[in-house]
Amino acid sequence: MSTTATTKYIWFDGKLVDWDKAQVHVMTHALHYGTSVFEGIRAYDTPKGTCIFRLHEHIKRLFNSAWIYQMEIPYTREQIEDACCEIITSNDLKGGYIRPLVFIGNVGLGVNPPVDPKTGKPAPCQVAIGAVPWGAYLGEDGLKNGIDICVSSWSRLAPNTIPTGAKAAGNYLSSLLICKEARRNGYTEAVSLNPQGYIAEGSGENVFLIRDGVIYTSTITSSILPGITRDSIIHVARDLGYEVREEFIPREALYLADEVFMCGTAAEITPVRSIDRYQVGEGHRGPITERIQKEFFRIVHGEDGDKRNWLVPVKK
Ligand SMILES: Cc1ncc(COP(=O)(O)O)c(C=O)c1O
Repeated sequence: MSTTATTKYIWFDGKLVDWDKAQVHVMTHALHYGTSVFEGIRAYDTPKGTCIFRLHEHIKRLFNSAWIYQMEIPYTREQIEDACCEIITSNDLKGGYIRPLVFIGNVGLGVNPPVDPKTGKPAPCQVAIGAVPWGAYLGEDGLKNGIDICVSSWSRLAPNTIPTGAKAAGNYLSSLLICKEARRNGYTEAVSLNPQGYIAEGSGENVFLIRDGVIYTSTITSSILPGITRDSIIHVARDLGYEVREEFIPREALYLADEVFMCGTAAEITPVRSIDRYQVGEGHRGPITERIQKEFFRIVHGEDGDKRNWLVPVKK
């Protein structure tokens, strides 16, 4: 579910500004051409205070996304990580969703941003970081009982068109088509196929399925965003003793699966109870999904002692 929650401050170009004052000009390049890259990160309340889940990996991906588009971030990774912590503490949040955004500002209307004649480089990007409280993205009920999804009639982006390995704003036009079509037809979410017809991902989630006790997920070459939750689940599931295979997965595997779930920072781990009106397993959250989901929530809430060092405390 979406959120319209607001907080007091936004970190904007190096300082905290009031939520209402964090504004840009209508001629901002990113508004016209989708030239921004971003992250979605969650902070959780833990016994050690509020911690951000896999902050280093998210900020590394942010810089990788910017690098692909040769967008210069005028801060170090450490400065952006500190700013993510600051936006949680300054807004007195115990947990929440953090949104760092790097965008090309009001630099003129040419698609190729102008370069400084002295340095030969384009103007550095602008950076904004907001944080808001945000509950279950696909609904509290969905987390427990599963959601109904469909296979989208829209394919995910083809290789060598718009890179799905970068988390760029423009990619979400494809996501918008996918989730709007799903909602119009009475589903909570959809899975898209890649241009070769294999399972790619949801509009904002990666997909896993389970058959005969083996866990499958699409390869990172299947036109997906290489999700950090996906990576966490692969580690956790293997540690729990499950076999996890990354494969090119055909559509019918979804209909034959014993269990299916979607995952992402916003969606966390959301079971799927039907696909295209085919019932999945018993039509509710399956036992392996439940086990991984419980372990995941224990980890993000610091209840396993953070043995993988995935939690970054917001207060140093
Ligand atoms: C298209 C897409 N795929 C997958 C994911 C899951 O990625 P992560 O687990 O890093 O949030 C997201 C969410 O960020 C997404 O937007």
